[in-house]
Amino acid sequence: MSDFDTIDYFTDQSLVPDPHPYFDHLRSKCPIVKEPNYGVLAITGYDEAATVLKDTDTFSSCIAVAGPFPPLPFTPEGDDITDQITEHRPLMPMFEHMVTMDPPDHTNARSLLNRLLTPSRLKENEDFMWRLADEVLDDIFRREPVGQCEFLTAYAKPFSMLVIADLLGVPEEDHTRFRTVLGAPRPGAIVGSLDHDDLVGTNPLEWLDETFVAYLEERRESPRDDVLTALATAKYPDGSTPPVLEVARSATFLFAAGQETTTKLLSASLKVLGDHPDIQETLRKDRSRIPIFVEEALRMDAPVKSQFRLAKKHTTVGGMDVPAGTTLMVCPGAVNRDPGKFDHPHEFDLDRKNVREHIAFGRGAHSCPGGPLARVEGRVSIERILDRMADITIDEEKHGPAGQRSYNYEPTFILRGLTEINIKFTPVT
Ligand code: HEM
Repeated sequence: MSDFDTIDYFTDQSLVPDPHPYFDHLRSKCPIVKEPNYGVLAITGYDEAATVLKDTDTFSSCIAVAGPFPPLPFTPEGDDITDQITEHRPLMPMFEHMVTMDPPDHTNARSLLNRLLTPSRLKENEDFMWRLADEVLDDIFRREPVGQCEFLTAYAKPFSMLVIADLLGVPEEDHTRFRTVLGAPRPGAIVGSLDHDDLVGTNPLEWLDETFVAYLEERRESPRDDVLTALATAKYPDGSTPPVLEVARSATFLFAAGQETTTKLLSASLKVLGDHPDIQETLRKDRSRIPIFVEEALRMDAPVKSQFRLAKKHTTVGGMDVPAGTTLMVCPGAVNRDPGKFDHPHEFDLDRKNVREHIAFGRGAHSCPGGPLARVEGRVSIERILDRMADITIDEEKHGPAGQRSYNYEPTFILRGLTEINIKFTPVT
């Protein structure tokens, strides 16, 4: 018996730097296997993951984000616990956000997003991204010492946050305030100013809810020709008008769902560019390969490490008996390296034919509505970074020489992302 048979995936920090040997071990036993500490069914197989994520009749998202923590606020009874879930939902974490909802509430909440994620809105948002990428890079180039930065703080965080702010129609004059509260301040420009001191102690999600309620109420009273007005006047599919707080939550949840994940995609991408000069060179020569590069970065290092479902009804998955009340954990990073689906799965391959079939954005009714946006964020960023940063290398003083690199990842079972990535480059102005 290896340690992997008893290790606690949820708390053991030794799995954080590289969870893949553990995932491979689980899959070698079975693509769906019960982990011993919490009785969670861990899914590392591609087909089994797709089956579970697509079936909202049998599997509830009520525990989507944190799985077995905290434990269910009830003891499952019988072969169908749908009513128990409904009754106890308000006691479960993040119950007010769409990611934990089931149809029909989920369908309603998601319909509000359709107002935002229209092709024309995404096009406008992309125009903003090109401008923003250059502004953030200009900011980096103004800093001493020139030619190096910690990429997460300097680029990935402010970029991904302001893209969502723009998508939601937050007026540009308010962007500075968003940067301050949401933890991606312009170095030296805001921190320590009165503006910042006013906001110390602010809970970012509460602040977002309040800010958006204020925007939306104002737009309902005095409609304008802007995105916030479109959002404020959106109706549910049955024609009824949602309470303003519901709309605000659909909007503010985008920051929670879209900012950290995209930051992780961008930082993982920069790590590949720094660690693989050959890939960097290939992309410099042929920018049309950037979209596939982004897909492969998502496949190799899926920012969402675990997503959870609760079996509402007694069922079977991949031949395994699954009683009602069982917690299932889909591990996109593991599923994306299922050798039954992806050849030589642990290699970064720019020529991979089926790369777009990865499940970094999930599957089924809850599959990520921000996926198209995140892909464009990746494409625009990598393109402008390659244009404006020549010879990108990993800072060896911080991460060690090639072959002996050391990277730290966030100590969580929910997401996979670097805590920092320090790079060196030659600025191209
Ligand atoms: C690389 C970036 C991203 C990754 C890897 C990612 C991944 C995911 C995954 C795996 C889910 C499904 C969760 C589940 O089924 O339990 C999800 C849901 C979601 N994502 Fe993303 N996401 C990213 C970026 C974004 C962006 C930029 C936005 C918003 C603009 C966004 C908004 C959402 C929302 C609102 C949900 C909940 C959808 C629902 O429950 O119906 N995401 N994301």
